[in-house]
Amino acid sequence: MRGARLAPCLPLLLLAACWAGRADGHGVHPLSRIAIHRARVALDASAAVRASPKLLGSRGEDTAWVTVEFKIPRASDGDWIGVFSPSNFNASTCPGSHGSGPGPAICSAPIKYQFANYSSVYNRSGTGALKFQLINQRQDFSFGFFTGGLSNPALVAVSNRIVFANPKAPVYPRLALGKTWNEMTVTWTSGYGISEAHPFVEWGMKGSHPVHAPADTVTFGRESLCGEPARSVGWRDPGFIHTAFLKNLSPEKEYYYKIGHTLHDGKVVWGKPKSFRAPPYPGQKSLQRVVIFGDMGKVNMCLPATIYSGYNCRIHFTYAKCVLQIIIILRKRVLEN
Ligand SMILES: *[C@@H]1O[C@H](CO)[C@@H](O)[C@H](O)[C@H]1NC(C)=O
Ligand SMILES: *[C@@H]1O[C@H](CO)[C@@H](O)[C@H](O)[C@H]1NC(C)=O
Ligand SMILES: *[C@@H]1O[C@H](CO)[C@@H](O)[C@H](O)[C@H]1NC(C)=O
Repeated sequence: MRGARLAPCLPLLLLAACWAGRADGHGVHPLSRIAIHRARVALDASAAVRASPKLLGSRGEDTAWVTVEFKIPRASDGDWIGVFSPSNFNASTCPGSHGSGPGPAICSAPIKYQFANYSSVYNRSGTGALKFQLINQRQDFSFGFFTGGLSNPALVAVSNRIVFANPKAPVYPRLALGKTWNEMTVTWTSGYGISEAHPFVEWGMKGSHPVHAPADTVTFGRESLCGEPARSVGWRDPGFIHTAFLKNLSPEKEYYYKIGHTLHDGKVVWGKPKSFRAPPYPGQKSLQRVVIFGDMGKVNMCLPATIYSGYNCRIHFTYAKCVLQIIIILRKRVLEN
């Protein structure tokens, strides 16, 4: 798979199978209740929504809290605030959408939402404020103020745009064991394509001179996905996924590493410094602990800012089960051939 473009259809199909299997007792994903393909644009000059601060992560943070204030002359329980990223969600055409007729008025689904009445005084005053936690995901953000509930939404106001200081910043390195016991892979996400910057990991044992391991760059496009709504309103650009291999590790030694991208002018954009301990030598007397997780790196774990925090945690658990199932299926295939 390495070096090639990702072929997401197979894993997505398998994930979809896992998804269907979890329906019992858990209900549907909260975001899937929003009928964004039915949303109408009904801008109302007497309604307003505003987000602050305008610049996030000015000290290099890759998560930030945002305050969203809103007002409307007549509040109702079905009013809600949706987070959109990229901020310009008012495309006049919907790429990837093949239906007849004018197509949806809003071509991207919110990545988060909250009911306006979650702000305690809203139903009396028609004004409210909510806090949202955002993570740096390569694009800017804006907030849409909707009435009409989730099933028949009408957009009444759009907020100002807010953005992280460096939306393309390399973020969220994930570690995985390599092909052999003494190899570690580092995978991360950025907004830098291969023609724009050279990705690498600077790494070494504590106290030793660090070395650079080059990384590869892959991505996938809208057209790689199997159909709607993943291709249309559900599409969000995945950015670039980079992987580097750190080889010849010494057993149980502590290593430091830092992801980075060298731009054409020689300037380096760095991630945050991290560390890990190398695995023990095979057969060495040692305690082995296994942690099973599944995280595609697209959402953060359990956001306290939303009423659905518990739900997010469950999703991660389900992902873990699905990833396991996929591994088992792939294993079986390999054994059968
Ligand atoms: C807020 O509105 C939602 C959706 O209409 C409703 O389910 C919920 O009970 C309301 N919450 C409060 C505190 O009124
Ligand atoms: C979206 O774009 C259309 C056409 O360009 C425009 O008429 C409409 O006011 C825009 N809506 C918003 C919410 O910006
Ligand atoms: C606002 O919500 C509170 C709590 O749910 C409720 O007791 C009150 O009647 C509501 N007020 C209006 C005007 O709907």
